[in-house]
Amino acid sequence: MISVKGLSKTFHTSSEPVHALDNVTFSAEAGEVLGIYGPSGAGKTTLLRCLALLETPDSGQILFKGSNVLLVSGEELRRLRMKIGVVFQGYNLLFSRTALRNVMLPLEIQGYDKQEASGLASTALDMVGLSHRKQFMPSHLSGGEKQRVAIARALVTQPEVLILDEPTSALDKQTAESILELIQGINRSTGITVLIVTHQTELVGAICNRHIYINNGVLSEPGYVPDTGLLATPRAGETISC
Ligand SMILES: Nc1ncnc2c1ncn2[C@@H]1O[C@H](COP(=O)(O)OP(=O)(O)OP(=O)(O)O)[C@@H](O)[C@H]1O
Ligand SMILES: [Mg+2]
Repeated sequence: MISVKGLSKTFHTSSEPVHALDNVTFSAEAGEVLGIYGPSGAGKTTLLRCLALLETPDSGQILFKGSNVLLVSGEELRRLRMKIGVVFQGYNLLFSRTALRNVMLPLEIQGYDKQEASGLASTALDMVGLSHRKQFMPSHLSGGEKQRVAIARALVTQPEVLILDEPTSALDKQTAESILELIQGINRSTGITVLIVTHQTELVGAICNRHIYINNGVLSEPGYVPDTGLLATPRAGETISC
């Protein structure tokens, strides 16, 4: 589904350059849940932003179903963006809009008429168990509910890939587990490919089919994710000998 080859990204700051991604290569199979781990500042969000086509890497390739998305522009890029749903670190909801109108936003940007956007957004909110909160403002929602709105917004364009950046880190354990159950349920019922960045290896690792580990912008070779019993296998189908 997604194949990343030799991806590099350096940020040029007023002090020294930051090599956020250094020759990163991995793949995600259609329908799998891939866990992406690593310490703070490792380059995880930068990687997700590249995959979501929000950041342009300096070099490398991102293949989505075989085509290099970095060569795409205009209408084709717009269509491609709809295929990749993103849940940002910290929800990123618009506080002046109701839950429903937050979820409608990606469709409005794509030019859908209000009635159609409202119907699709309503279905997405049903899917995440928020039928009773559609007209609530974000400030009146709990952390778990805000995360559900963010997930509904990511799903409303019916993407083939769902990318989540720290979806449970701001939540208590019970709420985090309910969000992970939701993500797993969506993966199983729709076959959507899921990429999850997290620090909570134990909690989130449990719903992942495969794991990768990044540190200082460099993806680890196959082996154990530090301080966990999880095996990192960057390439789909790769086996490791212990
Ligand atoms: N726009 C930017 N300009 C300059 N440096 C940046 C920028 N974005 C990220 N960086 C730097 O790139 C490195 C990787 O950042 P990134 O946000 O990808 O880390 P992360 O693994 O997501 O960390 P965390 O777990 O704390 O969210 C960091 O050193 C960060 O300071
Ligand atoms: Mg981050």
